[in-house]
Amino acid sequence: MKLLVTGGAGFIGSAVVRYIIEHTNDSVINLDKLTYAGNLESLKSIEKNERYKFVQADICDRTSLDLIFAEHQPDLVMHLAAESHVDRSIDGPAEFIETNIIGTYTMLEAARQYWNQLASSRKDAFRFHHISTDEVYGDLEGTDDLFTEMTSYEPSSPYSASKASSDHLVRAWLRTYGFPTVVTNCSNNYGPFHFPEKLIPLMILNALDGKPLPVYGNGMQIRDWLYVEDHATALYTVATKGKIGETYNIGGHNEKANIDVVKTICSLLDELVPSKPEGVVQYQDLITYVTDRPGHDVRYAIDASKIERELGWTPAETFESGIRKTVEWYLNNKQWWSRVLDGSYSFERLGTSSKSETK
Ligand SMILES: NC(=O)c1ccc[n+]([C@@H]2O[C@H](COP(=O)([O-])OP(=O)(O)OC[C@H]3O[C@@H](n4cnc5c(N)ncnc54)[C@H](O)[C@@H]3O)[C@@H](O)[C@H]2O)c1
Repeated sequence: MKLLVTGGAGFIGSAVVRYIIEHTNDSVINLDKLTYAGNLESLKSIEKNERYKFVQADICDRTSLDLIFAEHQPDLVMHLAAESHVDRSIDGPAEFIETNIIGTYTMLEAARQYWNQLASSRKDAFRFHHISTDEVYGDLEGTDDLFTEMTSYEPSSPYSASKASSDHLVRAWLRTYGFPTVVTNCSNNYGPFHFPEKLIPLMILNALDGKPLPVYGNGMQIRDWLYVEDHATALYTVATKGKIGETYNIGGHNEKANIDVVKTICSLLDELVPSKPEGVVQYQDLITYVTDRPGHDVRYAIDASKIERELGWTPAETFESGIRKTVEWYLNNKQWWSRVLDGSYSFERLGTSSKSETK
């Protein structure tokens, strides 16, 4: 099979691309605009594989998308490209509306036109897998409640509202045009190659540098953490075996308060890097509480029983095993993150032109 993966230079997309190239016989076309979040250095281990190809393009650019579908003739689309950072969506929502809503609409239309002209056997096998987040469901008040696939949408941030909009578009294309779609909503991911603006890598790198560890509000916001490589196997399972028209929630059964995540990282660093920056006795001493994020949801938790029951997927990592692997990865891959921090990882970025480059 040939899979078109959008956003394959991002955190989760690169894990999906590495998984497919390393563990299956399928081919991948990685379509990515290379925004600040796209990093081809996350794909070094597979970039020379003949089953892998990178195409630089913008999902909002219909002309480029039509050319890419016509040239590469994919059997399946996994759509991950998005603006993904909640804080950035609060500071500047426009790009989230553009990429997550208009971009998904443009992908749906390009893919639908391509699908319409496929011969019937390929048309029947084709599917469009839209990758979304549990944040579309909003805040969970009770401590026992879980998000199921039937939970109604109540997004709180510009990011989650834009992802909710894109999910609605995907379902409308299924219902209205019979376009074969499948949707997944996943909890917070963590693991290798995570951009250092996100909670876990930010805390690891700040602690190593002796900088404050900023925790929003009282740090009691609860998230359900999933190791990114587990998400990649779940996504491949749904893309290839999921039932058309269905939604699958994906989660790690690992509910943790943010403050406990930060304290776990600090304890691991106390053990793994005993020679601390000057003036630091324990890494926990660096924790600093800062003003909470506006509209901050208190708790997300996923009921992932449907994907387990129907498709046989369960996560391989516990939070304890995954967070240890993650901290060790950052300790052993300084070159990757120092090039992100100093900006030297960046490649030529696409402007607003309709240029599409294959590298
Ligand atoms: N990170 C999480 O915890 C999480 C959890 C659940 C769902 N998701 C969803 O998974 C997907 C991937 O998330 P991520 O954390 O890997 O994001 P990311 O920000 O690390 O990567 C996004 C990628 O999309 C690319 N991109 C952005 N705008 C584009 C455009 N207009 N055209 C083409 N490419 C573009 C970027 O260059 C980047 O490579 C997103 O749809 C996100 O909503 C993320």
